[in-house]
Amino acid sequence: MTLPVATSSAANSVVVTVAHARLDLDLNEPVDVALEAMLARATFQKKTSSTTATRSESGAEGQDGGMTATARFVPVPHRERPGDDAQIGTARAFADAMVTRRTVRDFSPDPVPLEVIRQAVRAAASAPSGAHVQPWRFVLVTDLERKRSLREGAEAEERRFYDTRAGREWLEALAPLGTDWRKPFLEVAPVVLVVFEVHAGNGEPKPYYVKESVGIAVGLLLAALHTAGLATLTHTPSPMRWICEVLGRPGNERPYVVIPIGWPADEALVPDLVRKPLDEVLVEL
Ligand SMILES: Cc1cc2nc3c(=O)[nH]c(=O)nc-3n(C[C@H](O)[C@H](O)[C@H](O)COP(=O)(O)O)c2cc1C
Repeated sequence: MTLPVATSSAANSVVVTVAHARLDLDLNEPVDVALEAMLARATFQKKTSSTTATRSESGAEGQDGGMTATARFVPVPHRERPGDDAQIGTARAFADAMVTRRTVRDFSPDPVPLEVIRQAVRAAASAPSGAHVQPWRFVLVTDLERKRSLREGAEAEERRFYDTRAGREWLEALAPLGTDWRKPFLEVAPVVLVVFEVHAGNGEPKPYYVKESVGIAVGLLLAALHTAGLATLTHTPSPMRWICEVLGRPGNERPYVVIPIGWPADEALVPDLVRKPLDEVLVEL
């Protein structure tokens, strides 16, 4: 049998059309990886076209509510299986590094390489998200006026919080941290990264599990910044809606957390806290 074959190419990909099936060869990948990915897509396209045919033949149309999106598959990118010892060593080294992360509230004004922040955001944006909607936005603020506005807005809210809104119980829980309404770090830290939840509207799709997804992304972000040697503070003035106006963000974006980033000040101290031991937080069944 002879199949109709057509090819076209762009700067870094070749598109091969075989009997109306479109296969993309990504030239940014090594040839063997790109070919493997292309073949996996071809196999999957064959499978889905027969599934689609079966579904319409069996009269099951309508069960999918007129769905137009189709799944596409590529090989799992990270498949090495290191030996147990190497793997445990890697996991231990990561945990050893993570347990040295501390929330810093006293920053040096010294600048930091913005490329480090961009790469950390890149890591954060690789997080899993409900239905892969990626409902996050990261706004990197270095402009002094904007940082000052963030400080003024946060201090106004936090004054109300500490004076009236926080009950005695909450203030008691915060006491070991030594925090109060003053938020100089929002102005002093060279970078303030504000993370937003992105909701439907403004051309964005309806998201699922927004808080869970953004929380995981922020976890990766903090780990990446700490690994790169920078200090962070996860700051959550309450309420935070006013931040949209200060940073000119649209109504479908909701502030999630404000993260000053930089170097700790020379004289910086952190609260003397104890973390729960592993056998208390981990239940093995
Ligand atoms: C969701 C969340 C909100 C937080 N909000 C604030 C905050 O508004 N101000 C602050 O000083 N610290 C805030 N923190 C930092 C915590 O107080 C800190 O993580 C905790 O005391 C443990 O200290 P460590 O991060 O040094 O281990 C917040 C942390 C989280 C996870």
